[in-house]
Amino acid sequence: MATCSAPGKVFLFGEHAVVFGKPGIAMGIKPRVFVTVRRGKNPPRVNSPYIENCFDLTGVNGSAYIHSQLPSSSGLGSSAAVTVATLSAINEEYNLGMDRSHIASTAFKIEKKVQRGRASPTDTFVSTYGGLVLVKDNKRRILPPENLNLVIGNTMVSHKTAELVAMVGEFRRNNPYVVDPILDAIEAVTIRSLHNFHNQKTLGRYMDVNHALLEALGVGHPMLTRLVTAARTSGAYGAKMTGAGGGGCMIALCPKRSKNRIAKAIEAAEGRAIITSIDTDGVRTE
Ligand code: MEV
Repeated sequence: MATCSAPGKVFLFGEHAVVFGKPGIAMGIKPRVFVTVRRGKNPPRVNSPYIENCFDLTGVNGSAYIHSQLPSSSGLGSSAAVTVATLSAINEEYNLGMDRSHIASTAFKIEKKVQRGRASPTDTFVSTYGGLVLVKDNKRRILPPENLNLVIGNTMVSHKTAELVAMVGEFRRNNPYVVDPILDAIEAVTIRSLHNFHNQKTLGRYMDVNHALLEALGVGHPMLTRLVTAARTSGAYGAKMTGAGGGGCMIALCPKRSKNRIAKAIEAAEGRAIITSIDTDGVRTE
């Protein structure tokens, strides 16, 4: 029997723009998914296409049990965390000798298959390696960790990443003169934020700007506006949607002493709050 866990992720800056080759910054976060794998010939399995594909692709027989601290379908990368943790537990239990980069690339392959062609390589990378991750020129690399106090607000409104990505793509195809400058502005905010991780007030301001630019792309939602406003008015340095938008989650960058107050304000606005910070471990054996 082997148990492995993998973290969730948030996009701090640059979501959607990364799909068009722009830079982005993502981060591994503390809520984790735990997966226990047991050997067996024809064991009953959790009914998950991600887990099915992990066993099929590695060619071993076994069962998997999931314990998740991450809400699913909320843009926090829970399917990537399930896939990465399952592959890692299979790797441990059957001594397959896969290294982290093999786990990340196999997990991405599985996500792509299950999600019929559209998956985020950033989700599987962040879940595997954890930490602060820069996406640049469609490649991902780990940056030195930063101690950011974040509160996540889950709108509990489900969204479909593939549809939102397709919608932005269509908007751009039909209106390149309008959409390209928005993507360029998101790129500028992402690049400037890289130089301002130690100046959290400025970083928060950039989050506000990034949120407005994502709304301009058409991926906002009234519940996201509500939670972002609640966080800002209760003392956050800044707040923005994170991930695909259209529902899902927002993040607020908070002064340490205000985390609880901001979480309460998000709950009062009918969101589910998660107080979190960076997870630098990535996938690990428990
Ligand atoms: C989804 O979490 C983030 C998007 O930028 C899609 C992607 O990066 O693959 C919308």
